[in-house]
Amino acid sequence: MFKYVRDIYTRHKKKFLITSGVAVVSYLIGIYIKNKIKDFQDQLKEENATRELIKKRFSQTQKDCYMTFLSFLPVLIDPIYKELNVEDITKELKLIRNKRNLSDNRSDNNSTDLGSAVTTSETSNDFHLINDVNSSSTDTNTKSNIKSKVELWKELKTKSLTRFLTLVYSETLLILLLHLQLNIISRKSYLKTAIKLASRNQGIQLIDLDEEKENDGNNEKDLPEQAFLSFTWWLLNKGWANLNKTITESVEVVFNEVNLREELTMEKFSNLIVEVQKSIDIKLFQTKYEYELYENVNEKENENKQTLLITSLLLPSSNDEFELLKRTNTVEFLASFNSNITNMETLQRMNSELKGYLDSEMISNVTRNIVSSGISSILDSLYHSLMNKRSLKEQDSNEPNSWKLAFILAVLTPQTQELINRRIDNPVLQAMNNVPGLDELSASVYSNFEL
Ligand SMILES: *[C@@H]1O[C@H](CO)[C@@H](O)[C@H](O)[C@H]1NC(C)=O
Ligand SMILES: *[C@@H]1O[C@H](CO)[C@@H](O)[C@H](O)[C@H]1NC(C)=O
Ligand SMILES: *[C@@H]1O[C@H](CO)[C@@H](O)[C@H](O)[C@H]1NC(C)=O
Ligand SMILES: *[C@@H]1O[C@H](CO)[C@@H](O)[C@H](O)[C@H]1NC(C)=O
Ligand SMILES: *[C@@H]1O[C@H](CO)[C@@H](O)[C@H](O)[C@H]1NC(C)=O
Ligand SMILES: *[C@@H]1O[C@H](CO)[C@@H](O)[C@H](O)[C@H]1NC(C)=O
Ligand SMILES: *[C@@H]1O[C@H](CO)[C@@H](O)[C@H](O)[C@H]1NC(C)=O
Ligand SMILES: *[C@@H]1O[C@H](CO)[C@@H](O)[C@H](O)[C@H]1NC(C)=O
Ligand SMILES: *[C@@H]1O[C@H](CO)[C@@H](O)[C@H](O)[C@H]1NC(C)=O
Repeated sequence: MFKYVRDIYTRHKKKFLITSGVAVVSYLIGIYIKNKIKDFQDQLKEENATRELIKKRFSQTQKDCYMTFLSFLPVLIDPIYKELNVEDITKELKLIRNKRNLSDNRSDNNSTDLGSAVTTSETSNDFHLINDVNSSSTDTNTKSNIKSKVELWKELKTKSLTRFLTLVYSETLLILLLHLQLNIISRKSYLKTAIKLASRNQGIQLIDLDEEKENDGNNEKDLPEQAFLSFTWWLLNKGWANLNKTITESVEVVFNEVNLREELTMEKFSNLIVEVQKSIDIKLFQTKYEYELYENVNEKENENKQTLLITSLLLPSSNDEFELLKRTNTVEFLASFNSNITNMETLQRMNSELKGYLDSEMISNVTRNIVSSGISSILDSLYHSLMNKRSLKEQDSNEPNSWKLAFILAVLTPQTQELINRRIDNPVLQAMNNVPGLDELSASVYSNFEL
């Protein structure tokens, strides 16, 4: 019975010596200490179990983030493909070509993208489109309202690079946003139901829903969480266009001087891309007045400063929050949501917590890591593809390999398909989702129990 006391005593000799005048070794004190120690052990066990549970739940949440990301992917990339329709420009270029030389109608009639045009051309040794880059004469046969070939080629250059980078950046922002949102929600528990309800309301089919019983009617507790998730609407509908605009500018500045005919080594091309990335990142993290970054923000009334990152992810002002909820949720939902003012307060607390993370030091490093991971995965496969397309003569040569920019872009475009491939084991998206720093960021959200 007194073993505990003895053990404690030997371990804490000094403390006991000081207090021994009072703490006479008595039976009662023995019991007391024993109970204290037992409490402590129980507490340890409990903490252990809790910690295990939190760990398990945390790692489940990170998996949910990836699955949710894949579920939202089509909604994100659809408008990007519509606005940056590289394939249409390629078709137009082919049309011009076919018009100019009607007798040349036998080959590559079927191919609809530049990539396959190049592959066909190479094997048949008739490298129409790429060689067309050479002749800068405008076509006299085409009507004046049709864009000239030179203009089309220039547009092709900007749009194919902009699409590649807009995909990478907007996916990066979606990954970040979902990790922040879902970790905030998961910490508050209710994750599963909330995602289910929110995505159902946005017409998004989640691929990872487990077969829980349908929960008809809104669970009162989930309302703010569901509302919080519907804020992804901003990035999916507005925010990506900010990125598109900024990225177009950066691409144009860096690639303006580079002619499509220019022969580039892979190193030179990668360096140009890194230049563009640097230029985008500066704009992404630079603080500016909100009216410079958001449309419809009044210059006179608004003196707030913000980064492009934040304006791409969050609404300009909390006044518009209800407007967004109206756009993304059902009337029934809104009625329940509005019936209790606590819901709006909880939602605003979650949104301001989210904004806090987006303002933090950590965010720029994590963003850069995710973007770099996406870009370098694609450039790696571009390089392999280019090397595989070399002729035997080129393979034997000791010269460093170089390719016309037009050719590089033609090979790049099919490689970027991997960015829109919704396979769970898509190596490019998985790499982006597993960069160093993202787990730490999530953990810092998850352990933020004070809020
Ligand atoms: C806590 O858990 C670890 C393993 O997860 C185990 O080794 C340890 O004994 C546990 N401690 C207590 C007090 O249960
Ligand atoms: C294709 O070219 C041949 C001659 O090479 C010509 O007779 C034919 O009319 C052309 N067809 C079209 C659709 O232009
Ligand atoms: C049209 O194509 C034929 C063969 O495909 C070629 O001999 C001819 O030079 C071309 N004409 C022009 C104007 O490019
Ligand atoms: C090429 O395809 C177009 C439609 O895609 C068609 O109108 C044309 O006749 C085709 N030409 C040949 C030679 O098959
Ligand atoms: C075009 O596609 C059809 C079927 O899709 C195929 O039968 C034909 O051989 C193709 N033509 C060329 C020139 O590749
Ligand atoms: C294209 O131009 C380059 C020089 O700018 C020249 O070396 C090459 O032969 C040209 N190719 C064609 C098909 O005219
Ligand atoms: C996206 O950028 C392209 C140019 O790269 C531009 O033509 C298009 O209008 C832009 N779309 C939006 C919605 O900003
Ligand atoms: C509003 O919701 C909170 C939290 O869910 C709850 O504690 C409170 O009783 C509700 N108030 C009313 C008027 O229903
Ligand atoms: C940023 O990320 C890189 C790559 O993971 C890491 O090496 C570096 O320490 C990070 N820097 C900061 C300030 O967190």
